[in-house]
Amino acid sequence: MCGIVGGVCKNNITPILIDGLEHLEYRGYDSAGVVVLDKNNILSRARSVGKVANLKKNISHRKIPLLGSSGIAHTRWATHGEPSNRNAHPHICNHSVSIVHNGIIENFLQLKTQQQAQGYNFTSDTDTEVIVHAIHQALKNTNSLLTATQKAIKTFIGAYGIGVISPQYPGHIIATRSGSPLIIGVSKKGNFIASDQMALLNITRDFIFLEEGDIADITLNSVIIYAKNGKQVRRQIKTSTLKNQQISLGKYKHYMQKEIFEQPQAIRDTLESRITKKTVLVSAFGHRAKEIFKTIKHIQIVACGTSYHAGLVAKYWLEDIAKIATSVEVASEYRYRKPVILPHTLFVTISQSGETADTLEALKAIKKHRSKIYTLTICNCVESSLIRESELIFLTRSGPEISVASTKAFTTQLVSLALLSVAIGRCRGQISRLEETKIVSGLNRLPGLIAKTLKQEGQIIKLAKTFKDKFNALFLGRGSMHAIAMEGALKLKEISYIHAEAYPAGELKHGPIALIDKDTPVIAIAPNDELLDKLKSNLQEIKSRGSQMIVFEDESAQVTPMKSMTIVPTTTDLGRITAPIIFTIPLQLLSYHVALIKGTNVDRPRNLAKSVTVE
Ligand code: F6R
Repeated sequence: MCGIVGGVCKNNITPILIDGLEHLEYRGYDSAGVVVLDKNNILSRARSVGKVANLKKNISHRKIPLLGSSGIAHTRWATHGEPSNRNAHPHICNHSVSIVHNGIIENFLQLKTQQQAQGYNFTSDTDTEVIVHAIHQALKNTNSLLTATQKAIKTFIGAYGIGVISPQYPGHIIATRSGSPLIIGVSKKGNFIASDQMALLNITRDFIFLEEGDIADITLNSVIIYAKNGKQVRRQIKTSTLKNQQISLGKYKHYMQKEIFEQPQAIRDTLESRITKKTVLVSAFGHRAKEIFKTIKHIQIVACGTSYHAGLVAKYWLEDIAKIATSVEVASEYRYRKPVILPHTLFVTISQSGETADTLEALKAIKKHRSKIYTLTICNCVESSLIRESELIFLTRSGPEISVASTKAFTTQLVSLALLSVAIGRCRGQISRLEETKIVSGLNRLPGLIAKTLKQEGQIIKLAKTFKDKFNALFLGRGSMHAIAMEGALKLKEISYIHAEAYPAGELKHGPIALIDKDTPVIAIAPNDELLDKLKSNLQEIKSRGSQMIVFEDESAQVTPMKSMTIVPTTTDLGRITAPIIFTIPLQLLSYHVALIKGTNVDRPRNLAKSVTVE
């Protein structure tokens, strides 16, 4: 979603801002802009629709170069108002205040009406513009940009991360957040702000993570932070462990491809120090985990998109291994329902980014509930809002995921949820030592098994070619493989724009079989489990409709070859925990190669954002 970068430095800040915007491109956006305070103390701005490359071109064609030692910049993902120059940030009011904003100001219509009555002229269709006018208005009664911003934000309802500069206060940037992330990068070259670390890694590794409601007054040599209650506070500077090679493409063509191939290592990292040879370490979920896991009677999982699919797989494991009733729901629905919350529920949020607005709001809402509930977040980003809101936390450690389509975050979420199922099963006395040892050894084998599955890329490239002219596809699975089929369908649609549906194979004859014809390929997942024979019958039903079929099978499943069917023996002899994780890999590779053939922007598919920080 939208990205922010800004700062005050010793030299010209423009190249730093542009480099920062380029590192935020992965988040998804449709226009970009920058404003600097030039040597004449004038707000000098450039905005462009489309890629940061367009903005760079725009800047390089200017008669007067964009030079200044302080500035703010933004990549905008349109919510209120189409992608256009006039809606792109930064916004400026009366040449005297400029802002960039992530989030949504929900009461903007009301504020806009008031501000128009005060004589403010609106030059965009955004909700954001009310922020710049509100600060301008507040500046009339104070001689501090900080105080004016503090006053203005009190009138906002919604979510924001904001950067503010003003020619009346040269050398200062005000940064504040509520509901949207914002960090401060500190360095000898100057002090900076950004919506995530990626934007500033070429400048510094030292970051301050602003807390909810914080506001900071930043200059070249100082960072002064005030908490929500107005009191000055000290926030720790943390050194990021992100390495450049983690965020560079290396030998790969796309981040998605790199991230698919990083999965063996990502899973090794997830397992590291969380298991012994035979057991899962319950304490890996937090020092109170054992006590909590013994007490809980229900589990409610809430997440979005791919993370939701991980939750759906986990439901099978938690009920099967830990014998605990588990419900899974998408956060955007759950947060607006009036769910019955039973006492002793463990509320589990799953998220790669830890900033997904719906998931975060669902967690905040549940914490207000009076019943005895506990919270656990499974997340990839240590400094995220979800992690901060949760009682128990578990980091997936998959490393930065830059491609919009989630791959390694998903498989490491699955590994984390497998560990959770075993940990809860043990605390509830529901899993035998032998069974636990079997699951743990299966998990230990995973990186090797995935590495082997990745070697099938050549065969999958050939299969991908058959999708060249296809507009629809159907994914089938049974049991936990239905969730994997859903994930396969989501990957295909989001990066290749082919319409794809996933169904539990047993549902075919209740409707979706009507869709099947020779132009709709069917992709089925065939593990060797208790539902295999039923799946084989479903494949027979499809055969008689003449559709192209691709079956990813466990070798021991021995699906009978049929006309128009390609069987891909994916691996063999998988347990119920390892199977869904392994079968994810060929589906990821398939959608990646179909997208390459379709010529889409694989890492940044249209209309999508990496981190969905607004509703
Ligand atoms: C799909 C994808 C999205 C995310 C969803 C939740 O490839 O990446 O569906 O899974 O937006 O994001 P997180 O996990 O960051 O909460």
